[in-house]
Amino acid sequence: MKHLLSINDLTKTEALDILNLSLEMQKVNSRDVKKLPALTGRTVANLFFEDSTRTRISFELAAKRLSADVINFTAKGSSISKGESLKDTVQTLEAMGVEALIVRHNYSGAANTIANSKWSKASVINAGDGTHEHPTQALLDALTIRQRIFGRDNLNDLSGLRVLIVGDILHSRVARSNILLLRTLGATVAVCGPATLIPEGIENLCDFVFYNLDEALGADFDAVMMLRIQAERMNSAFMPNAAEYSSGWGLGDSRFSKLNSKTLILHPGPMNRGLEISSAAADSEQSAILDQVTNGVAVRMAVLYKLLAQEQSNG
Ligand code: CP
Repeated sequence: MKHLLSINDLTKTEALDILNLSLEMQKVNSRDVKKLPALTGRTVANLFFEDSTRTRISFELAAKRLSADVINFTAKGSSISKGESLKDTVQTLEAMGVEALIVRHNYSGAANTIANSKWSKASVINAGDGTHEHPTQALLDALTIRQRIFGRDNLNDLSGLRVLIVGDILHSRVARSNILLLRTLGATVAVCGPATLIPEGIENLCDFVFYNLDEALGADFDAVMMLRIQAERMNSAFMPNAAEYSSGWGLGDSRFSKLNSKTLILHPGPMNRGLEISSAAADSEQSAILDQVTNGVAVRMAVLYKLLAQEQSNG
């Protein structure tokens, strides 16, 4: 495995290998000295053309915990403002000896473009590209669901689990990567949202499509993943207004009070509290939202280890 651009790059065995290696990384992260020497002398660059809190910081922490040198590049404050191209930016990092490029971009396909170019020999990890994919988010979500429902040390796939993804499916790279990975791991996946935010043909990708959230929640899912409304990707009105969205498709206090107390609540963040999820739901014991953040570090350590340390030892 040279790059991680899409969940489609992973077989079920490879995905499970990453989840299971993440358990070992969790053990490192719970020690007093949270460090492995695996990537000593290796250089990793966070190449972020779009804003991020969780993904950028957790990749930085993951690389540092594996002892890599880390460069943080953000478009703001770089020579992009002077007209520098993606190619020149990547070639500049290549000239400095960067061996892994962790790429976030608002262009769907940016990570693939870099990986398929001759601009760099680095491994490329897609850290979220437009509305396309966010593979490490899906991996950390799968790990979180498995641990919270099956137990911390469970090594199995997700067969038998039923997951509902709710909200702005149309613009969500998180939804796409999650649908692909959860189904690869054996889970049943449904989506729910207003018709304007459900992409055409989604029924070919997932198991069920709901347009009414109360009907969907009545079907009693093991986990419900609420998605952020991606206003920055909407160039016209996809919903009447925030209040109507919240009342139709938000996990507000009233819906939360009726939710099965065993149903796990997820959200990839950043959250719009009061729009797609209420504080009562987000901060409840049923919520795994901060577990998702914690697991992001371990999963990204596992991915960096697989791409850089294991590939090197495989020759
Ligand atoms: N979930 C996620 O990608 O969050 P950030 O945009 O903060 O990285």
